[in-house]
Formats: sequence, structure tokens, C-alpha cells
Amino acid sequence: MKADQLSQTAAFLAIKFYGLSRFDTFRSLFDDSVVSFYEHLVQTLPAPLRYYHFWLKFGWVRRLYIWSEELLLPGDLLHVIARKWYIQRMVKKCIADGYEQLIVLGAGFDHLAYHYCQQGMYCIECDVPYMAKRKRAFFQQFYPNSRHPLIIETYLPENQLIDVLGSQPNLDPNKKTIIVAEGFFDYLNTRTVKHTLQQLKQHFLNNPILISTHFALNELSPFQRRVFQSSVQLVGEELQLNKSMDEFEDLLSETNYKVLEHFDSQQIKETLHTHTDTNPPMLNGFHIVLAT
Ligand SMILES: C[S@@+](CC[C@H](N)C(=O)[O-])C[C@H]1O[C@@H](n2cnc3c(N)ncnc32)[C@H](O)[C@@H]1O
Repeated sequence: MKADQLSQTAAFLAIKFYGLSRFDTFRSLFDDSVVSFYEHLVQTLPAPLRYYHFWLKFGWVRRLYIWSEELLLPGDLLHVIARKWYIQRMVKKCIADGYEQLIVLGAGFDHLAYHYCQQGMYCIECDVPYMAKRKRAFFQQFYPNSRHPLIIETYLPENQLIDVLGSQPNLDPNKKTIIVAEGFFDYLNTRTVKHTLQQLKQHFLNNPILISTHFALNELSPFQRRVFQSSVQLVGEELQLNKSMDEFEDLLSETNYKVLEHFDSQQIKETLHTHTDTNPPMLNGFHIVLAT
């Protein structure tokens, strides 16, 4: 991934959320403001990606899109809704436990920092310069009179997170802080992930909470793994971490993180099923952890 490129993986997450949130069952999981956030966002993507905004309004197009996605990577679509829903609930719980600052790494087109910013929380987003500029322009266009998260141009490992965070006068290292890394570490190599995790521990004096997703590619069938990896490569990005869940947990423990909660695809699917009236497949190998 280059510093001056659009992250199409981030763009497709927003497009998929937008398409799925047109179904009442998924829409009902989120506030209207979250649904309209992605609706606005898809319109600001460069062509041809923004055409999804028009086409996904049609039921037959959505059905065709779902059919083709499910054929290649079953459960990929549902995992998008699931991760946004899960992570938002996890962050909400941390806030109820007294966490006061939120940092979203590799924020892409995600809504989380904006959402909690409206509730008075101090929120920061980090992403590569091109993505950061796009996100700022989006906020200016659709939410000119609202509070925005601070968006910091950060290209790892060229920029070190410790320097980036250290130069923010309003970020208090003593305050209880939530770090969200959703679909982020997968795109970095082991060395960079390790340094980033260590630097977060080093910067925040009051143990931060880390909420991270992890894709364990080894849990996918060889065909699905190839589809996943090549679809990411096709858009100029690369899944670099490529670790089993045990290996990812080892990496967390080597950097002094203790996993407090861990949800795998099966658990996520079952929880989502209890809140919706559908039971579609969930992408294998998808995990969410909460560590401190
Ligand atoms: C798969 S997207 C996830 C976006 C968002 N977190 C979400 O889940 O909706 C990965 C994000 O990480 C960012 N990213 C990838 N490599 C990066 C790097 N070396 N430094 C900083 N950000 C990076 C991309 O620009 C992109 O926004």
C-alpha cells in the first residue's frame, strides 16, 4: 500500500456496509446516523466506485452482488456488518467503564471516531496521507458544522506511531484510551505490527485497551484463501501479517498485551443471529480480540 493511494479495501467496506444496510434486518442494528454516514460516504468515492451508490438501491442488483460474493468468499459480506456492530458495542462498553480517548488506526472510511466525537469523546484517526485528506474533505462536505475527529496522516512504518502520538498536545497519555485496529494489522508486516504495539504501550501510561480484528488465513480453504489474497492484491494492497490466531496471540503476548476477550467467526455469527432474523454464513478465520 502506498501513501498516496486510495485504499480500495477500505472503500469496499463502506460500499458493502451501504448495500447491506438497505436491508431492514441489518439496518436495525445501527443508529440512523451511522447508516446515513455510509450512504453519504459512498457518494464521495471516485468513479467508478461511487456508482455503487446508485446501483445498490435496486434489489436485483443487490441480490446479484450478494450471489457473486457468496460464490467466491462465503460470509465476507456478513462479516462487514458483524465487525462494525461488534466493535461499536465493544467501544461503547469501554466508554461506560471510563475510557475517555479513542484512536482508530488505519481508519479508512469507518464511522466510529466520528460517531463518538459527537458524544464528546476525544477521537483521533490515523491513515495514509491520501486517505486522511479524503476523509477530511468528506467531513467538510457532509458534516461542516459537527465536531470532527482529528485526522493524522500516518504512513507506517515510515512514520513512527510514537512520534505521531507524541506530537498531539491534546492527547493525554495518562487518560484511559481505546485503540481500534479494525482490518489494519493484516496489511502490515510482523516487525511493523510489533513496533506499533510496543509504541502504544510505551506512549500510554495508563494501559490502553486494544480492540483488533485478525484474519487467520489458515482457517480458510485453499480456494477461499487464494480468492481473498488475490482480490486484495488486485487493488494494490497486500495481506502481509498472515498468522494463525495462536501466532497472533503470541505476538500480542510478546508485546505485553493480555487478551481479555476473543470472539471467533462462529461466536460472532451466533450472537448476530440472536439480534437479526437471518442466519447467513460468516467468513471463516475472522476474529475480534480485546486486549490490554
Ligand atoms: C482494510 S482497510 C480498513 C479500513 C477501516 N479500518 C475499516 O475497517 O473500515 C485498511 C486501512 O489501513 C490503511 N493502511 C494500510 N497500510 C497502511 C500503512 N502502512 N500505514 C497507515 N495506514 C495504512 C489503509 O489506507 C486503509 O484505510
